[in-house]
Amino acid sequence: LRDRQPIIAIDGPAGAGKSTVARRVAAELSLVYLDTGAMYRAVTWLVLQQNIAIDDECAIAELANQCKIELTPSNDLQSPVRVWVNDIDVTQAIRTIEVTSQVSAIAAQSAVRQALVKQQQSWGKKGGLVAEGRDIGTHVFPDAEVKIFLTASVSERARRRQQDFKKQGQPEVSLEQLERDITERDWKDSTRTVSPLQKAADAIEVPTDGLSVAEIAAQIINSYQQQLTQR
Ligand code: DC
Repeated sequence: LRDRQPIIAIDGPAGAGKSTVARRVAAELSLVYLDTGAMYRAVTWLVLQQNIAIDDECAIAELANQCKIELTPSNDLQSPVRVWVNDIDVTQAIRTIEVTSQVSAIAAQSAVRQALVKQQQSWGKKGGLVAEGRDIGTHVFPDAEVKIFLTASVSERARRRQQDFKKQGQPEVSLEQLERDITERDWKDSTRTVSPLQKAADAIEVPTDGLSVAEIAAQIINSYQQQLTQR
C-alpha cells in the first residue's frame, strides 16, 4: 500500500478537453485539480511583463526558480482556478493571445521545466490530485495510479476552440485558421527535445470526438475505481 492518496494524470494535446474534464473528475472525486499549463503560462506572463527576451534562457531560468506561483482551486466548475504569480492575480492575463503565442517557447526550456516539475512534485507528495498537462504520466508523476491520454481530431479541437472564443466574447477566428494553429502547436509540443508530449506506455487513450464532458469524465472515474479495487 502506498503512503499517499491516489493521483490521476491527464495528458494530451491542446484542445482535447483536458481542463474541463480534469476539473470535473476532480470535483466528482473530491480531489485537488492541478493545472500545470497555468504554471507555464504564469512564467511566460512574467517574462513578457519584465521584458525579458524569450531566448534569454539564463534570465528565464532564474525567474522560474525564484517566482512564487500559487493556484487556488475553486469548487465551482464555472469559475476558473485562480492563478497568482508573486502575489499578482494573473488568472485572466495568462489566457491572452500574447501569452498563448509565446508559452510553447518557454515550456521548451529545460531549466523552466525542471523548476516547475519540482514544484508540481512537491505539491503532489501527498497525492489526492488530478494533474493535467503534457508530461504528467511520463515525467511528473510516473507512478500515478491512473494515466489518461485524451485525444480528439484536429477539426473537433478547432470547433471547440471556436466555441470557447465565442463564449469569451472574443473576435471570431475561422476554423481553417484554428486548425492551422492547432497543427502547429501540436508539432511544437511533440517535437521539442525536453519532455515532448507523449503518451505514457501505461496510459489509457481516450478519443473524445463526439463525447460529452460527462461521458469522458465517467470513463475516467470508472478506470480510477477499477484501479482502486485492484490495489
Ligand atoms: O494546457 P495549456 O494550453 O494551458 O498549456 C500551455 C502550454 O504549456 C502549452 O504550449 C504546453 C505547455 N505545457 C507543457 O509543456 N507541459 C505541461 N505539463 C503543461 C503545459
